[in-house]
Amino acid sequence: MTSESGDPQKHQVRIAASILAADFSQLGRDIRSLNDGGCDEIHFDVMDGTFVPNITFGAPVLESIRPLTSLPVDIHMMVQEPGRFVDDFARAGADYFTVHVEACTHLHATVQAIKAAGMKVGVALNPGTPVSVMDEILPDIDRVLVMTVNPGFGGQQFITGQLAKIAAIADRLPRGADGVDLAVDGGVKADTAPGCVEAGASLLISGTGIFNHPDGVISGISSLREAIGVTEA
Ligand code: DX5
Ligand code: ZN
Repeated sequence: MTSESGDPQKHQVRIAASILAADFSQLGRDIRSLNDGGCDEIHFDVMDGTFVPNITFGAPVLESIRPLTSLPVDIHMMVQEPGRFVDDFARAGADYFTVHVEACTHLHATVQAIKAAGMKVGVALNPGTPVSVMDEILPDIDRVLVMTVNPGFGGQQFITGQLAKIAAIADRLPRGADGVDLAVDGGVKADTAPGCVEAGASLLISGTGIFNHPDGVISGISSLREAIGVTEA
């Protein structure tokens, strides 16, 4: 990985593509473009119509796309009581399983179940949720995901006020390769990505910024990399 700026912090920033913004009639083609474009990870948004006002897809869709890519896949569960689906997604080949703190009655138990199923654990926070809820669970998890839109839909506007939350979480995280990922999700595009990295993000999740790029998916990924000063995967 190289960086134009020479800032070592930027070496660690990875890019995930949210396939919520893919063309579902051409999902296989779009997944292959992510492989070719040097994307670091696939972000898989699961919505239940209860926790968020939208419905998307589940484990059978993951099972279909899993053979098409060796990229890690993070399941972003925008689902009430997501612990019910841990085993289904582990069997379908998920690498990370990210749950919302607001959707889990027994967050600690859910986190342990995800680990027991062999997946890495992410915990997500809605824009209205304070950082302090992470205090008890941070030592047990692999990733914090800060929502910079209210979850439910792609293509929404980045909530700038969440940058302070990203910075506050970055302050609480151990530094270094074995540390906890700090992911940012919602409205991340070439114009908003630099602020996220500045605040301490290590994983940028982008849907429409990648899939709706006028020059195609591969350009969408490279435009994000250029915006944060990292020109090579
Ligand atoms: C929103 C989802 C996001 C979304 C990001 O509820 O969790 O992952 O797909 O899409 P963009 O980048 O278009 O905001
Ligand atoms: Zn998401």
